[in-house]
Amino acid sequence: MDFKTQAVPAAGLSAVTADGLLVVLATADAASMLDQPLADELTRALRDGDFECKPGQALYAHRVSGVKAARVGFVFAGDNSAKALRKAVAAGLSLFKSGGTRNLAVCCAGFGGLSAAHGEALVAAVSDGLYVYRDTKPSAPAPGKLKAVSLLCDKAETAAAAEGLRIGQALAAGTTLARECANRPANLCTPSHLALQARKLGKDHGLKVEVLERKDCEKLGMGSFLAVAQGSDEPLKFIVARWMGGAKNEAPVVLVGKGITFDTGGISIKPAAEMDEMKYDMGGAASVLGTLRAVAELKAKVNLIGIIPACENMPSGRAVKPGDVVKSMSGQTIEILNTDAEGRLILCDALTYAERFKPAVVVDIATLTGACVIALGHHRSGLFSPDDDLAAELMAAGDKALDPAWRMPLDDEYDEALKSHYADMGNVGGRAGGSITAAMFLKRFTAQLRWAHLDIAGTAWKSGVAKGSTGRPVPLLTHFVLARAK
Ligand code: BES
Ligand code: MN
Ligand code: ZN
Repeated sequence: MDFKTQAVPAAGLSAVTADGLLVVLATADAASMLDQPLADELTRALRDGDFECKPGQALYAHRVSGVKAARVGFVFAGDNSAKALRKAVAAGLSLFKSGGTRNLAVCCAGFGGLSAAHGEALVAAVSDGLYVYRDTKPSAPAPGKLKAVSLLCDKAETAAAAEGLRIGQALAAGTTLARECANRPANLCTPSHLALQARKLGKDHGLKVEVLERKDCEKLGMGSFLAVAQGSDEPLKFIVARWMGGAKNEAPVVLVGKGITFDTGGISIKPAAEMDEMKYDMGGAASVLGTLRAVAELKAKVNLIGIIPACENMPSGRAVKPGDVVKSMSGQTIEILNTDAEGRLILCDALTYAERFKPAVVVDIATLTGACVIALGHHRSGLFSPDDDLAAELMAAGDKALDPAWRMPLDDEYDEALKSHYADMGNVGGRAGGSITAAMFLKRFTAQLRWAHLDIAGTAWKSGVAKGSTGRPVPLLTHFVLARAK
């Protein structure tokens, strides 16, 4: 998809040459800003009760007399924010998706000055709306004929809007990569496949990629990660990918992504219902790859390291058992009381490994707990950090990227749930505050780090009719990293 800005012709919107014209109205007053042929069409629709200025409502009109574009769509946003624009474009796009429109011009009427955020929102809505997973289903309906989208701008807005389109396209590429990886079934998206994806990313975008094998992890003493991986016949992979766009001596940002390519629960096996969705349990890993891609495409002047511990969590004769005690790379011992709390077991060793990079900050991203879905639902990711400044940076990045998070507590009192009779800690607390005790477990491995944790169990994918990976939180993470590059 090609995105560009386009100056509005002096004669007005009706003179815009494109196959399709989508008019996004910020408010009802914005109708008065349209030129005559378009204003007339809208007035008639309002009068006939076919358009009511309700947020997300869209109206299609064909070959409106006096309008050059053969296809016209109106959609109501409700306000002039980037968020409202994204939702409106998503609704308006469906008017043009299946038709003959190859190039679409988008006019934002009444927005009162477009910013980069608006440009980003436009790209996000379009790339999101046109994404189709075809990897294992080539027969899936094609995403339509649309090839180019132009954002109509005044001269004064052009630079900001164009910058938004540029960032938006990098975000879209990263988000799409994450979605493709996470949607791919677990028989194809194995730890080895993730390693391959990382290597390909490295080749295409100039990242240094290193993959540690089981033997290497044994040497490093990653007893916790190894314990999770031991039940599976798929070889584990510990992936390290580096984008060194910053100064040589500059401390890197490190992202650690949970890469469980399938989570059966292990011996503490999960019930059958919806277990297929545990192929998405590598959503954290996918978001790390996606963020690396976006940051590399933008050639950001920052050092960014992605670490992905990848394995399956399977029951077998060799699988780790409830009550087994293992020694983590940090030297701390863990009683594995529930083999289904495996994410924290692979992340803790990856966090210890991250210390060697003397990172400026470390953020781990994981589909860690069902409890986080109960706490926050599917809109906001759970954000945990003992560091107020780091938490604020991540919150701001999420807001800006329209990929929001919500801060959760990490009081010392929650740590008591992790006490064990047989080791330094157990790997589970009780049911109460399950996403918090999971984060408290990770916190025990971060004494040397400025650290934050994102629990994306509710946001990484959708269930039901719209089942599929969202690619979140690639937008949040990319904005976070870009803000640090400045
Ligand atoms: N991958 C799951 C978390 C999950 C479950 C995410 C359902 C989204 C939907 C994780 O490995 C897990 O199984 N967590 C357990 C922890 C429990 C055993 C303490 C959970 O949430 O039930
Ligand atoms: Mn699990
Ligand atoms: Zn899991």
